[in-house]
Amino acid sequence: MERVKTGIPGLDELLSGGIPKGSNVLVAGGPGTGKTILATQYLYNGGLQYGEPGLFVTLEGNVRDIAWNMESFQWDIKALQDQGMFNIYRLSMEFMKDRTRVEEKLNEQLDEIAKEVESINAKRLVIDSTTVFGAYMETSMLRTTLFKLTDRLKTFGCTTLLTSETQSNKNVYSAFGVEEFVVDGVLALYFSPPNRSLFVRKMRGTTHDKNPHPLEITQKGIVVNPRDNIIWDAIK
Ligand SMILES: Nc1ncnc2c1ncn2[C@@H]1O[C@H](COP(=O)(O)OP(=O)(O)OP(=O)(O)O)[C@@H](O)[C@H]1O
Ligand SMILES: [Mg+2]
Repeated sequence: MERVKTGIPGLDELLSGGIPKGSNVLVAGGPGTGKTILATQYLYNGGLQYGEPGLFVTLEGNVRDIAWNMESFQWDIKALQDQGMFNIYRLSMEFMKDRTRVEEKLNEQLDEIAKEVESINAKRLVIDSTTVFGAYMETSMLRTTLFKLTDRLKTFGCTTLLTSETQSNKNVYSAFGVEEFVVDGVLALYFSPPNRSLFVRKMRGTTHDKNPHPLEITQKGIVVNPRDNIIWDAIK
């Protein structure tokens, strides 16, 4: 099976080598746990180390904030952008305010993303964050929408990370109780000050590590320590 290396120190080891190619993987965690950094680092490494173009779709931040965030780690994303290895696409959910033709409009947005994917021949895709859908839909519609979204993403041929902001319960991996079931994998991030950790909750098609591990956000981005375990009771 082909695997996609995240290039994030320590993480691929927990995944027996990397994410199975073509997967949709949820990066779940509370606010400030490092979801956006992990997702951007995945794309940055893809472009820089593995020659794989990546597209970052933001549903919440503006394009400049994302770029600024990445540059704080001295990641030269401008150079990657110039080489056609990286791009940021802002998907505005404003169209959802008028709740008619919702499905049609969502499909139009997905068509736009598909065009962006094609234009740089993206192999890696990030959707940050799926939690924004919650502001525009009732739960039942949201579930259908997330099913459709992940289904459609599969047709893009990318290996995709979707972020989801969860509440501070360590056993809850989605904001709407459905995301974790419609994806192939879940990476859970925790921050119980001062300790950060990462846990591979599920990953279809591969064996993977079963313990939470220390995670640090350093000047060079996220570093996971696969050798040390964090005990569950230490996570709040
Ligand atoms: N350059 C940096 N060096 C070290 N730590 C940093 C740096 N930049 C950000 N951080 C840490 O990372 C945290 C933010 O990470 P990130 O934006 O990935 O979180 P998130 O899980 O996406 O949060 P949200 O749910 O708010 O979107 C900050 O709160 C800070 O603690
Ligand atoms: Mg974020």
